Amino acid sequence: MADQFTPIDKAQLPQHVAIIMDGNGRWAKERGEDRLFGHLHGVQSVRDVVEASAEWGIRYLTLYAFSTENWDRPQAEVSGLMELLVNTIRKEVEQLKKNGIRLHVIGDLSMLPPTARQELTEALELTAENDQLHLIMALSYSGRWDLTQAFRRMADKVLAGELRPESIDAQTISDHLATQKFPDPELMIRTSGEHRISNFLLYQLAYAELYFTDTLWPDFRRQHLYEALMDYQQRERRFGKTSEQLP
Ligand code: IPE
Ligand code: IPE
Ligand code: MG
Repeated sequence: MADQFTPIDKAQLPQHVAIIMDGNGRWAKERGEDRLFGHLHGVQSVRDVVEASAEWGIRYLTLYAFSTENWDRPQAEVSGLMELLVNTIRKEVEQLKKNGIRLHVIGDLSMLPPTARQELTEALELTAENDQLHLIMALSYSGRWDLTQAFRRMADKVLAGELRPESIDAQTISDHLATQKFPDPELMIRTSGEHRISNFLLYQLAYAELYFTDTLWPDFRRQHLYEALMDYQQRERRFGKTSEQLP
């Protein structure tokens, strides 16, 4: 499908794309429907974006599906979302396996209902051998939760004499985050016109290029991802240096 577009410059493709999938509720409201109707339609967007990412050679895709703060939504929406999560994973896992996609989850999984945890554990195992695309679902996730659990684990190691405080550097912190196995995202996309990070990957986004689109998540398809990638390829990533210093 990628060939219907100008070819993406593979050398300039981000390795890791992170997406805040936002706007499901507004999408449903525009249609006079319940918020859950929007979440349900958002699944189709996830499918398309995951497929395209795998086809185009993106190695890591992190999707913000449910934040720590989202637990405070009305009970019916939370349980509807959990049910949708379990059903979607059950339905999609075979396809993920076939397409070489490995599933990962980051977040405070102790908050999830046992059925959801069970379904996730099975899906993680079933796709564990895959290596084409790493699909990282941020579930019950927040950047502050992640930093907090990382600092606690480091403090435990310090107390146990396994870590010396003076040896802690930026890499040590990265190594204790839930994302320790993944490189930092080079590109972060947020849909629905909101210009904020909403407690997503606070530490990991330090040098990410940010891309905002008004498109609501249930309308987001591979062509929107493609536009974001094209925009990313125009950017000059200086990392604090001057243009002249760049290769
Ligand atoms: C994003 O859509 C999905 C989740 C946060 C679970 P929203 O549900 O936040 O939709 P809006 O922002 O209210 O339109
Ligand atoms: C961020 O969206 C969380 C997810 C997309 C999972 P929210 O809709 O919860 O964020 P706010 O409340 O607009 O900041
Ligand atoms: Mg929202």
